[in-house]
Amino acid sequence: MKFFIDTANLKDIREAQDLGILDGVTTNPSLMAKQKISGKDRVMQHYKAICDSVDGDVSAEVIATTFHEIIAEGEELAEIDDKIVVKVPMIKDGIKAINYFSEKGIKTNCTLIFSAGQALLAAKAGATYVSPFIGRLDDISVDGIALIEQIALIYRNYSYSTQILAASIRHPMHIIQCAEVGADVMTGPLSVINALFSHPLTDLGLAKFLADHKEAAVK
Ligand code: E4P
Repeated sequence: MKFFIDTANLKDIREAQDLGILDGVTTNPSLMAKQKISGKDRVMQHYKAICDSVDGDVSAEVIATTFHEIIAEGEELAEIDDKIVVKVPMIKDGIKAINYFSEKGIKTNCTLIFSAGQALLAAKAGATYVSPFIGRLDDISVDGIALIEQIALIYRNYSYSTQILAASIRHPMHIIQCAEVGADVMTGPLSVINALFSHPLTDLGLAKFLADHKEAAVK
C-alpha cells in the first residue's frame, strides 16, 4: 500500500519524505488555507515547492465547479509539474472533466467520495485515484472501512485501473484496516503515520538490549 501525506505543510512533508516511506502528497483547499496560502501565484508556488520536496504524486484541488472552469484550472495546475494530480470534486461537471483529463493523459483524483456508486462513476470516467473519506463517514456512524472494501470488490470485478486512495484517515488502525481490505493508497497526517512506529514493547526491548550491551562492555 502506498503512503501519502495529507497536508500542505512543507516541514511535515519533508519530514515524511526523509523517512523514505513516502509515495506522495494530498492537499485540499482547507489544508492550503491552514498554511495561510492564498492568491493564485502563491498557491501555484506552494504546489511547486511541494512537488520539489517529494518523490511521487501531488494532488492539487480545483476550486472551480463548472466543466469549462474545472478544465481551465486543472490544465494550469497540471502544468506546474509532472507530479501534479488534478483533484476534482464528485459532481456531474467534475466527472465530465475527469473524462476529459483522462483522454488528455492528465492524472486525476476524484474527491469527496462517500458511496460505492460515486466510486463506480469515477472509475468509469477514468480517474487515476478515487478518494473515499473514511473518517468523515465514521464521524456520522457509517463504516468507512466497509466502503473501501466494497469499492475494492467492485473495481476487482471489472479490472478498473483507478486506485483507491483512502482519505480522511484519523488514527493508525484506519491505516491497518485499509491495508487489510486492499486500499491502494492511504493518505494521512504526519501524526498518524508517526503513530505507526510506537509500541511499548519495542521501547522496553530496546532499552533492555542497550542496558545489557552497556553492562557487558563494563565487565
Ligand atoms: C484528502 O484527500 C482529503 O481531502 C482529506 O483526507 C480529508 O480529511 P479530513 O476529513 O480529515 O478533513
